[in-house]
Amino acid sequence: MDAIATLRGKYLEQIGAAPDADALESVRLAALGKKGEISLKMRELGQMSAEERQTAGPALNALKSEVDAALKARKSALEDAALDARLKSEWLDVTLPGRPRPMGTIHPISQVMDELTAIFADMGFAVAEGPQIESDWYNFDALNIAPEHPSRQEMDTFYMHRAAGDERPPHVLRTHTSPVQIRAMQNQGAPIRIIAPGRVYRMDMDQTHTPMFHQVEGLAIDRDISMAQLKWTLEEFCRAFFEVDEVELRFRASHFPFTEPSAEVDIRCSWEGGQLKIGEGKDWLEILGSGMVHPKVLQAGGIDPNEWQGFAFGMGIDRIAMLKYGIPDLRAFFESDLRWLRHYGFASLDQPSLAAGLSRV
Ligand code: DAH
Repeated sequence: MDAIATLRGKYLEQIGAAPDADALESVRLAALGKKGEISLKMRELGQMSAEERQTAGPALNALKSEVDAALKARKSALEDAALDARLKSEWLDVTLPGRPRPMGTIHPISQVMDELTAIFADMGFAVAEGPQIESDWYNFDALNIAPEHPSRQEMDTFYMHRAAGDERPPHVLRTHTSPVQIRAMQNQGAPIRIIAPGRVYRMDMDQTHTPMFHQVEGLAIDRDISMAQLKWTLEEFCRAFFEVDEVELRFRASHFPFTEPSAEVDIRCSWEGGQLKIGEGKDWLEILGSGMVHPKVLQAGGIDPNEWQGFAFGMGIDRIAMLKYGIPDLRAFFESDLRWLRHYGFASLDQPSLAAGLSRV
């Protein structure tokens, strides 16, 4: 009996002191494993007399059950403690402020393109595109710019390289978005209402010129399109774009080979203390060229000028971006200076829409 009490005391103490699951398993093996002390004791029952067995048997069985229960209890206590410890170490403070991530900005040119696309879309204009490397025919001939026409020189064109022996006129980096007019006419026929924003190229570089810049072309063709509709469309655009109630546009007679009649358009503005205000004052700023599409241009696009007529315009996007957002130097647009981009750039979630207002708040 003493032996059993000793075993009981020894193992209950070891179980209570086992610091983790591994230690507890060693205690279990030492007590109840195949060669465990209690298991061996139970095997000894076979050699005992029936009388001895009668007392030792139940006592050993009771010891075995008690140790077994103690092992289970300790095991679940250790598991609970481990879970508590894990929960403590994995605790997440959802009230902490988020970690800042470096974020890019939307370039003012992209922003302004989105704005003007939204405004013209609202007036029923779809967006059309054309290639930046353009054939001589699309960039000049189809637009009624003859080979000897001075505007070919005025445009300061970048010509592409031609393989030796290739006699075709070289392709050009498009000098304006006007060739997209021809492509749109060929692709969809009349009637047409499109704008074509995009990059254009000319050999020019000073505070207001860069060799690459942006234009948006506009083209509306139908049976009865008039200059009055051109004027209304441009006024509506300027009101929405510059976010002023009243704008005043001045149409100056001008000349472009691809329009007849042609007009350059100025917008009324004031410069006071270096601050530009659109829609008031006594200064005028030129923002675009426009006119009624020349019959020869319609013909080049495969549209019958006896049946259809239209207006067209070409506007400098960089110019109107500078005006709207008070950006003084055009060259800075394309220098990729991070300080400039952070200052003049827009947040990516600040999407222009007619309902939400078009500018940053
Ligand atoms: N393509 C002309 C330029 O780059 C701008 C222009 C003038 C476009 C009159 C037009 C237009 O569509 O009708 O200077």
